[in-house]
Amino acid sequence: MVIKILLMILGLFALYQVIIRIFRKLFHFPAPAFMGQFLDSDFRRKLQPADKVIERSGIKRGMRVLEVGCGSGAFTTFAARVVGEEGKVYAVDIEPKMLKQLETKLNRPENQNIKNIKSIQSNAYKLPFENDFFDLAFMITVLQEIPDRHRALQEIKRVLRPSGVLAVTEFLPDPDYPLKSTTIEAVKRTGFALDEVIGNFWNYTVRFIKPSAIA
Ligand SMILES: C[S@@+](CC[C@H](N)C(=O)[O-])C[C@H]1O[C@@H](n2cnc3c(N)ncnc32)[C@H](O)[C@@H]1O
Repeated sequence: MVIKILLMILGLFALYQVIIRIFRKLFHFPAPAFMGQFLDSDFRRKLQPADKVIERSGIKRGMRVLEVGCGSGAFTTFAARVVGEEGKVYAVDIEPKMLKQLETKLNRPENQNIKNIKSIQSNAYKLPFENDFFDLAFMITVLQEIPDRHRALQEIKRVLRPSGVLAVTEFLPDPDYPLKSTTIEAVKRTGFALDEVIGNFWNYTVRFIKPSAIA
């Protein structure tokens, strides 16, 4: 009986993945704002603990960090706490309603002490920062949502300092989830060097380095 139920859940999940992936191939658009509450939920955090993702992204105290596609801020406050007062997190998203959810989250009593997040509405294709500005950039379930990934990655590379880190995290329930090899190929094509692959099949982070001599 238990096996039957498990197989049924697995089957339903596979069916959901097939249908949603076909839909996403036909209609390409950024995650709708109503998804913000699911993205920043306790259930998701159980499956994809934010502190682990931040740690394996290589985020450290004092860093100036760019989060591309921050959404409702499921990971933003965790990153801000790790970089501390000497560091800063620039949270960028194309969708104003997602950023509004981040602002609401920052206004909650438990987040009142966080003063080092700047939210910015922008397309990843044209980031409002000077060259070599960031120590690290990270994106979580975002890259595949961007139609011209190469253009976005080139722009991220521009704003990263030489030897700066780009961390890309993907998570299987996301309808745009790619295999590790797809992520590695896309990012390496932009001239980043592979640093480390961490995690498992369904929840992984790949870290890349911007070469010192610009390719
Ligand atoms: C699936 S959500 C993930 C949000 C967040 N990273 C998380 O894991 O909870 C993808 C986010 O990327 C944003 N996004 C999509 N295309 C973008 C682009 N070209 N530039 C900036 N943000 C973009 C969407 O608005 C959305 O908030």
